[in-house]
Amino acid sequence: MASTCNLIVNGHAIKANVGETLVDAALGGWTVIPHDCCSGQCETCRVTVVAGNVDDQGTGDGRTVLACTATIDGDAEIEFDEVPRIAKRSGEVAEIARLAPDVVEVVVTLNEPFDYRAGQYFNVKFSGFPGRDLSPTVRADGTWNPRELVFHIRRYPGGLVSTQIGSTIGIGHRVHVRGPFGQAFLREGDGPIVLISGGTGWAPIWSVAAEARRSQRHRDLFVIAGARDPASLYMRQSLEWLTDDGVRDVIATTQIGASRPILAGLPTHYLPSLGLEDTVYVAGPPGLVDAIKTNARDGRARCYADPFLPGVQKLSMIDRMRQMLRRPDAVPGLVRPAATPAYEPVLGEDRSRQAAALRMQGNAISRTAPPQDEPSRSRG
Ligand code: FES
Repeated sequence: MASTCNLIVNGHAIKANVGETLVDAALGGWTVIPHDCCSGQCETCRVTVVAGNVDDQGTGDGRTVLACTATIDGDAEIEFDEVPRIAKRSGEVAEIARLAPDVVEVVVTLNEPFDYRAGQYFNVKFSGFPGRDLSPTVRADGTWNPRELVFHIRRYPGGLVSTQIGSTIGIGHRVHVRGPFGQAFLREGDGPIVLISGGTGWAPIWSVAAEARRSQRHRDLFVIAGARDPASLYMRQSLEWLTDDGVRDVIATTQIGASRPILAGLPTHYLPSLGLEDTVYVAGPPGLVDAIKTNARDGRARCYADPFLPGVQKLSMIDRMRQMLRRPDAVPGLVRPAATPAYEPVLGEDRSRQAAALRMQGNAISRTAPPQDEPSRSRG
């Protein structure tokens, strides 16, 4: 078998080494495939295999693979959606507001706006603290200012960062932001959009929902927001905003303490039957994300997933290139291993029937707040 092969990345032809990951191969040809964790977790690097020989190393989903893990077996062509370039900005904390006992909203004003797509995330470093991956969102009333980033941050007991918000990290605290990352951003299209969140996964989902209402109003929205208990449904005002804006199918679920219009159970219990025409966005705990992905795959729906995972050690692109060039196999031939991640029953029923049964009624959901804990990108 030849040790080198041809790889076409978004139309750009490069020479690659058999056995390299797609990310490394592309970097070797001075082409950057968007990536972040490089450990098969964040989904930032998911690309479509158009043709050829790619070993998905267990990351395959339809025609897509994770480029940081999948390896080249021979000549191949891949493509991905172009995203804004990764940049750095600085700013300061401008507002801190309690959304629930364990969730705060932090508003960061920037020295210069970022170019990013609704649904992407940033690495946010409060000066003097380790960085955290956080999803910018819009305010609960649907407003958005390009010079500010609004985050929903869950406080974790003992968390290095989250426990300090409101104390050591107060108004005026310096912030350094890098990004954007992530591929679960809103795409153009015509079919229905199904949006599902668990916990603070609402941040990116709300961002996508608001942008869809702003720029793609011709598309039907089906929204499910899940939380552990009614007090944790900090996103009620946003859900009401969607309902007031004409979105018919808006569902709130809690695992405990639900009473109408809040529905008992998990978001997966109220997922509509998915089909080829649907585009699904899901964010939050990995178990929820994996269950939705499985359901979307079964229904042949397109699915963009944003699993909230514990922090992982990341390499910068420079470090990654250095590492790659240091390898003895940086020239011909190389082999490499892989990685991958499950949940519980999904009820897929007729959408209209379910929607009619489950739709939130007007502004019947009131506002309040208290805690919950779940895996989150904003791990303190
Ligand atoms: S960079 Fe590939 S999954 Fe994170």
